[in-house]
Amino acid sequence: MLRSQKLLKAVKFPALLARYQSTAEQAAAKGKPLQIMSSAFVQKTKYIRTAFGDLYPDTTRGDIDMSSCDYLNYALHPYLNKIDGESIIRRGRISFNRSGCYVRPPASSVYRLEDAITEHTGGYQTCFVNSGTEANVAIFQAILENRPELPIYLDKFSHATMVLGANAAGRSDILTFKHNRLDHLRKMIDENGPGLIGVDSVYSAYGTVAPLEQLTELTRDTGSILLVDESHTYGICGEHGEGVVKELGLEKDVHVRTMSTGKALGAGGGAIVLNEAVGDHIEDIRKGTRMSIFSLAPQDCIADRLLETLRLLKEEKWKRTDLYDKIKYFRESCMEMGYNGLFVKGETPIITFVIGPVDMATEMYKDFVEKQIFPSPHVYPASPRNRTAVRFTVCHGVTYEQLNHVLDTLRNLREKYKPETWVDAQGIDLF
Ligand SMILES: Cc1ncc(COP(=O)(O)O)c(C=O)c1O
Repeated sequence: MLRSQKLLKAVKFPALLARYQSTAEQAAAKGKPLQIMSSAFVQKTKYIRTAFGDLYPDTTRGDIDMSSCDYLNYALHPYLNKIDGESIIRRGRISFNRSGCYVRPPASSVYRLEDAITEHTGGYQTCFVNSGTEANVAIFQAILENRPELPIYLDKFSHATMVLGANAAGRSDILTFKHNRLDHLRKMIDENGPGLIGVDSVYSAYGTVAPLEQLTELTRDTGSILLVDESHTYGICGEHGEGVVKELGLEKDVHVRTMSTGKALGAGGGAIVLNEAVGDHIEDIRKGTRMSIFSLAPQDCIADRLLETLRLLKEEKWKRTDLYDKIKYFRESCMEMGYNGLFVKGETPIITFVIGPVDMATEMYKDFVEKQIFPSPHVYPASPRNRTAVRFTVCHGVTYEQLNHVLDTLRNLREKYKPETWVDAQGIDLF
């Protein structure tokens, strides 16, 4: 019992005391204690815990990490780690220990980073935040607040954090269009009017690519707003890693880009990049979203690190070339061995096998782990229950020798798991 409760009891204010009692206490008082954890939640996490087991890739003992999105190995870069460390020593770990809506000193590295990202991506203005999730949640609020009539169109595979953003803005009436099916999207817009369209440039679940050129045309035709999550293309697409939107020359057509800087850039953080058509709203986003008001601001040491990462990105084109060579090698070798599922063909670092039954996928994952290979099992709720998948991501840091070990393992497991029987080889409509 809290001290305040004891006090109230002592002074005999039963009505006031009741207000202090939680629902759990009230139920317990009636002899029926409330279950604390939701059983639906616990049931759901059971899949994840079973699939992942207790093991993790330890690359220092030779494990091969095929689940990382550190595509260019900047997270492990000794020079960048040194920059990070020196910045912490200079300024302390939390250099701006208050929420994001406060004004920073003009020389703050976060402001400099925002300018650098704007220049790099060909955007108009940038707001740097703590994560890709925060970027999506914040921008959805900024677009949707008090606009219950504005339709929200998300691709079926748009990242879960966009759904989170819509929900956080008080909206659950999301209109979902079939994956990459712009005819379906157009039909929905014809019926419901122009709205906010949210897509990923590369979809994290299956490594598929959004048809961005057609999407910008459709956005223009219908007078909609286009938001592209570039988390899996920022850093690895374009001459200088500027992302696919700029690579395709669409930076004036895509109203908003969001990205996690925790993938190819290898350091936690996220960005919201606006184009000119949006107008001067970066200060509104910096100061007015619930994330910026109620959550701590991003730290200068991360910005210091990312400023250097951007410089390396521009200089180290060879890393992207090497990455794409390895992706091609891995994908083509898989196909030669008879792994011909829907998502093996393609050019992105994400190669997903949609196996189907959770038991088979989990067993296969464990067979890989036994060989010191760590792909990423995608079980419910990351995948539908009957479409459990195993996802491999290829990063620049994996060696050809390691890739060959993964390919040998796939070859040896072929008979056991029969990829021609998997969901992704059956022509089943996954979209
Ligand atoms: C497409 C996409 N958007 C957003 C996020 C969230 O980014 P972060 O991990 O920085 O919150 C992810 C991360 O998994 C992602 O894949």
